[in-house]
Amino acid sequence: MENLLTIKDLSLADIKELLMITEKLKQEKDRELYLKGKSLGMIFAKSSTRTRVSFETGIYQLGGQGIFLSSQDIQLGRGESIADTAKVLSRYIDGVMIRTFDQHEVEKLATASSIPIINGLTDKYHPCQALADLFTIKEKKGKLNELKLAYVGDGNNMAHSLLLAATKVGMDIAVATPQDYAPQNEVVKIAKRFAQQNGSQVELLTDVKEAAKSADVIYTDVWASMGDEDEAEERKLKFADYQVNQEIMDLANEEVIFMHCLPAHRGEEVTADVIDSRQSVVFDQAENRLHLQKGVMVKLMA
Ligand code: CP
Ligand code: NVA
Repeated sequence: MENLLTIKDLSLADIKELLMITEKLKQEKDRELYLKGKSLGMIFAKSSTRTRVSFETGIYQLGGQGIFLSSQDIQLGRGESIADTAKVLSRYIDGVMIRTFDQHEVEKLATASSIPIINGLTDKYHPCQALADLFTIKEKKGKLNELKLAYVGDGNNMAHSLLLAATKVGMDIAVATPQDYAPQNEVVKIAKRFAQQNGSQVELLTDVKEAAKSADVIYTDVWASMGDEDEAEERKLKFADYQVNQEIMDLANEEVIFMHCLPAHRGEEVTADVIDSRQSVVFDQAENRLHLQKGVMVKLMA
């Protein structure tokens, strides 16, 4: 494992090892030797609260430093090529986390770099979030297989990464989206292949109730992701039936947990009573981004 670009590239052994390192680091008190003197560049072309703060704090706790690079402030934003940026950064620092629009940019950066590249979200994938979510599910349920995750809402970057993450670890996944907002075929095909290899099921649905039936985890995300802002009003109409409310939660298994990568819009994709209920684990989820990403940095940069 040289980079973290998408969960597609990881083996089951990579994922298990990452979750193990994460568990260790979550308990660890003496942790500032792991990445002593190392630097992580953090390129952001989109907003962030969790990813930015958890990576920056994470590398600091491991003895290194994070360097925030708004894509508007570095020469990349004025047309310097990704390849040149990659080659230059490789001479200074020890790893790059990038959040941007196009997944191909992350891949180009990785091809031209001699240092590890970590995908901190693109329009297509959000691997750090989905891996941290596996860690949270394992903490809450004690296992990852023989569980069903129901994802409700937009077939977006989160849906794609959860499809790949769940099927890699043998978890069943049902995805309920409006017809025109289903996850990309290419990703679904890969997830179905993983599911076959690892003994799980993939269901693509338009009926939220059907997806929620006997789920152990109900997961949702915003109706309009970063980059979709101009469609926000139209999406509110199209996604009106794709809200996680108590009625939906009650269709799932008794011990069901509610998950959301955040930021959330109460009253849209989830009701306030659900996200603020005892069934909701969203803040543990947010915390685990810190631990999981420390695991990723140790695995790639130590
Ligand atoms: N979940 C997540 O990635 O949050 P941010 O956009 O705040 O980083
Ligand atoms: N799907 C959301 C996730 C935010 C963490 C977005 O891309 O904006």
